[in-house]
Amino acid sequence: MRVILCGFGAVGQSLAKIFESRREDLYARYGLKPRIVGVFDSGGGAAEPSGLDMVKLVATKKERGSVAHYPGGAPGSRAGDEMISSLDADVLVETTPSNYDDAEPGMSHITGAVKRGMHVVSANKGPLALALPSLTELAAYNGVMLRFSGTVGGGTPILDYAKNSLRGEIITSFRGILNGTTNYILTAMAGGSSYAGALEDARGKGYVEADESLDLDGLDAAAKLVILANWVMGMKITLPDVDREGIRRVGAREVKRAAAGGRAVKLMASCGGDGRKLAVGPAEVPQDDPVCVNGTLNAVSFTSAHSGTQTVIGKGAGGTETASSILRDLLDIRMGMSRG
Ligand SMILES: NC(=O)c1ccc[n+]([C@@H]2O[C@H](COP(=O)([O-])OP(=O)(O)OC[C@H]3O[C@@H](n4cnc5c(N)ncnc54)[C@H](OP(=O)(O)O)[C@@H]3O)[C@@H](O)[C@H]2O)c1
Repeated sequence: MRVILCGFGAVGQSLAKIFESRREDLYARYGLKPRIVGVFDSGGGAAEPSGLDMVKLVATKKERGSVAHYPGGAPGSRAGDEMISSLDADVLVETTPSNYDDAEPGMSHITGAVKRGMHVVSANKGPLALALPSLTELAAYNGVMLRFSGTVGGGTPILDYAKNSLRGEIITSFRGILNGTTNYILTAMAGGSSYAGALEDARGKGYVEADESLDLDGLDAAAKLVILANWVMGMKITLPDVDREGIRRVGAREVKRAAAGGRAVKLMASCGGDGRKLAVGPAEVPQDDPVCVNGTLNAVSFTSAHSGTQTVIGKGAGGTETASSILRDLLDIRMGMSRG
């Protein structure tokens, strides 16, 4: 399987390391022989139709800052677009930063690849949050698969659980904690920290996005809610359809009052009920509700017509964890390709 990898940061490098360390195992167990034929970051790209040397690639990035310094690599901001329009590959893996203004550069990468007949795996939430219904249509029109397991829950198979394990069910609603950073802050506040102190602590641990608004104003959680609602409930919605509030207005007093009543304040993302309302905002959740997880954990409870409510819990982020989701998607695509 020939792969073009867009972005070579935490997730992209973790994927390359998994490909390298599990080379024999992936072939023996799944018949999967991934070859990264092209990769680019913000400094440029490197391509080799027979497959790049992944150890050399990771070392080049570490030592010289960009994959453009790989032997034969090309510097420049057009390297990615040129690669997508001319290099032959089976799958494009998109791991550039999530952007909720215009979804670029990921949107152009994905649409360019789909139009050339490549399957796509995206860890990037921006294009999906802003245009999942039209991207799904474009992929179907071009006869390719579009997968994005890593966009919700990092390595925790939240999308896969709803789509595959609940196959045949009618999911009537779901609600959950989809952003680990805000959950960490609210958990620290429940332990006695002030909002400012908890935020500083989260920043120090590297949990907060460079653009803090993505976490604190609920944008990241809303993007994941949109992806879930489209994928799981068959809705055709985008980010502006979500009623969104972040955690900036949550004070220590509210957190304490909730705790006195056996509840916790959480940034909840929910879909369902009358009119299938989509909302992200602070809410009090009983502490003994399975969805009421602490720290950086994510959790989603799905309620279905026949099997009741089940909750999926796990770590919501991490380069290696997210790369493991990309691998799941690649195996899915591999199966689809072999079925023709
Ligand atoms: N990390 C996680 O836990 C996690 C979990 C779920 C989803 N995601 C999503 O997965 C994606 C990747 O996350 P990450 O943590 O790997 O991010 P990251 O470490 O910031 O890596 C992003 C990569 O994209 C490259 N890039 C940025 N702008 C570019 C451009 N205009 N053209 C080409 N390449 C560009 C960067 O280049 P440079 O290296 O040159 O800066 C970098 O290699 C994001 O969309 C994120 O939201 C991440």
